[in-house]
Amino acid sequence: MDLVLLFALSLCWWTPETRSQWSEKPKIIISEDEIKDGESMKLVCTLPIDYGGGECNLYREGSSIPFRVIREVGYLCTFVLSSKELLGGRPVGSTVGFTCNYHLQQYTSIHSDARVITVTGSSPSPHLSISHHRLLSPADSVEVTCTPPVHPVARCHFYSDNVSVTRGSCSRNLTGEQLAMWKRPTLLLPINLTCRYYPKHGLEIRSEPSNHYQVLVLDVSEESRSMDCSVWLEDDQLDGFRGRNWATVGADGQTVSVQVLNRNLTTDKTWDCTETTTETTTETTTETTTETTTETTTGP
Ligand SMILES: *[C@@H]1O[C@H](CO)[C@@H](O)[C@H](O)[C@H]1NC(C)=O
Ligand SMILES: *[C@@H]1O[C@H](CO)[C@@H](O)[C@H](O)[C@H]1NC(C)=O
Ligand SMILES: *[C@@H]1O[C@H](CO)[C@@H](O)[C@H](O)[C@H]1NC(C)=O
Ligand SMILES: *[C@@H]1O[C@H](CO)[C@@H](O)[C@H](O)[C@H]1NC(C)=O
Repeated sequence: MDLVLLFALSLCWWTPETRSQWSEKPKIIISEDEIKDGESMKLVCTLPIDYGGGECNLYREGSSIPFRVIREVGYLCTFVLSSKELLGGRPVGSTVGFTCNYHLQQYTSIHSDARVITVTGSSPSPHLSISHHRLLSPADSVEVTCTPPVHPVARCHFYSDNVSVTRGSCSRNLTGEQLAMWKRPTLLLPINLTCRYYPKHGLEIRSEPSNHYQVLVLDVSEESRSMDCSVWLEDDQLDGFRGRNWATVGADGQTVSVQVLNRNLTTDKTWDCTETTTETTTETTTETTTETTTETTTGP
């Protein structure tokens, strides 16, 4: 019997539930919508009907000629495509849409919905430099400069612990508040500051990350007591805190002192303001007023 006729007949016999499994529209399944240039990815086209043995055609959006045709296996067509094949001559960093359809004898399905895939590019690291002021209150600012190895670039992004906090100009002032934007508020927040640049407008080409700098944001707004904190840094990070080993921030009468120390002097701890806070809380709850400026000394 003619397959198409069989297909048409079987649709009449099926219950609505059975029929809903086969939507008449194939579907594209991809595990990720972004791959790096040079990598390959798997793109699966599902069959729209309960008849195998046909072929799937894969189209770039905007083209009526398939650029890949493969035979169905197990009601699926699995295309393995390199970034170059995905791009089809477009520049690295482009986003391309794809559709597929299924062909069996005289039957050709409609196209699937389009799925877009971006082939991202990379470029060499920029250099991050930073003004000497590296212990900040939320209102203070630090001047940061991202210097890419190529000129000009489309934009720079600055990251606080891998989260983009600002984008645009490659040289700017960032406040402690901006740096701590996505963080849980805490008295003393160490932040790992890095930058990247995007060399071209409209293309997903992202540079490798820059060198990193540690910055400390000291927020006393939630504190009603005085305390001392110690922060330990790696040797190569210590330089930026030179001359600021003891910073005192006073507001509403409280004093928070921060001591920045060389990691070599201590154990494996990075900072211990939380511990100090916890201890002090226990002590002060037994006291009657909060006006006392209890000095809790910790550190080496
Ligand atoms: C940031 O990303 C780098 C590289 O991908 C990773 O090594 C590091 O652990 C990340 N840091 C945080 C705080 O997520
Ligand atoms: C950062 O702020 C300082 C002081 O206000 C100013 O001199 C400097 O030009 C600013 N830098 C940028 C990149 O805006
Ligand atoms: C800071 O970020 C850099 C680059 O992503 C990473 O190599 C480094 O391990 C990070 N350091 C800390 C303390 O998270
Ligand atoms: C800290 O320790 C490292 C490795 O043990 C060593 O190379 C470095 O010179 C030390 N720095 C200081 C300031 O003692």
